[in-house]
Amino acid sequence: MYSLARSLLFRLEAETSHALALSGLDGAHRLGLSKRLGGERVDDPVTLMGLRFPNRVGLAAGLDKNADHLDALGALGFGFVEVGTVTPRPQAGNPKPRLFRLPGSGAIINRMGFNNAGVDHLVERVSTAKFAGIVGINIGKNLTTPVEQAVDDYLLCLNKVHAHADYITVNISSPNTPGLRTLQFGAQLDELLGRLREANTQLDQRAGRRVPLAVKIAPDMSEEEVALVARSLQDNGIDAAIATNTTVSRDAVQGQAHADEQGGLSGRPVFVSSNQVIAALRKQLPQIAIIGVGGIDSGEAALAKRAAGADLVQLYTGFIYRGPALVGECARALSREG
Ligand code: FNR
Repeated sequence: MYSLARSLLFRLEAETSHALALSGLDGAHRLGLSKRLGGERVDDPVTLMGLRFPNRVGLAAGLDKNADHLDALGALGFGFVEVGTVTPRPQAGNPKPRLFRLPGSGAIINRMGFNNAGVDHLVERVSTAKFAGIVGINIGKNLTTPVEQAVDDYLLCLNKVHAHADYITVNISSPNTPGLRTLQFGAQLDELLGRLREANTQLDQRAGRRVPLAVKIAPDMSEEEVALVARSLQDNGIDAAIATNTTVSRDAVQGQAHADEQGGLSGRPVFVSSNQVIAALRKQLPQIAIIGVGGIDSGEAALAKRAAGADLVQLYTGFIYRGPALVGECARALSREG
């Protein structure tokens, strides 16, 4: 059924078809049909970061930036859904077109630029949603906030989302906000994570509830750079790493239509580099929770993420190409693996 819908949707411009697919999904959910699209949720509970995940397969950030579709997406069998990236103030993102398909590689290039309706909108939507799985909220900074003041944007978002999130992701790895990825390195990383950890601990104490902090990193890092990030995550008591975001490398898609578009490349071409980052992180941090994301397009690929060291996985591009059936396929593969 999804292959028929996909052949129609893929004739449209990528962002138009994305919006149409999500509103179709909302419609199906209102009619009580979404379970039929995704099948029953695989029951394979796992406890990590003090949270009980119904299964190991999540939706990655960026598909539901405003948490407008949380219930409909949640009904497709995901154990967890990460919404955002959200910024303090609403912003339009980059001019269109900014989303491109590379079907020959099962890939997407995007330079959305954190288009979102702002943190207040997202909080309102999450607080009225009914999804019973785990909800992560992914936070970022506005384009117009200088990178030297980025911590203020993250703190503002942290304060607003804390009461509504099961976990919070600090996104410092999008290639589409100039300067953002410099926050992954050196003193800037320690300063940012230290301030966020301190604020989060205070919020936890006030709320009487611990909300774990995750940090999402890029695949474009050497093993030495990953080791430095790992040290900072550990020093600042970060609960989880999400590896990885999209890549700026185009090595795997040379010569294909759209390969030269600016932005982050996702899907199959990022699979190997994201696995390498996961393996390097796991080597440094045997205890940390790792959420593996990047290029999962089959149950087998989900198992490879586990083998690299991930505890949980997330889907994005593979879900666009394969549809809801991929969720159950990955969850079943991971549950059999035990
Ligand atoms: C993303 N991704 C993303 N990540 C994030 O932390 N915040 C965001 O707002 C977005 N936005 C976004 C938009 C689009 C169109 C895509 C394709 C991706 C990155 C995503 O969550 C994931 O980390 C990567 O895409 C790698 O996984 P896949 O797509 O290869 O499964």
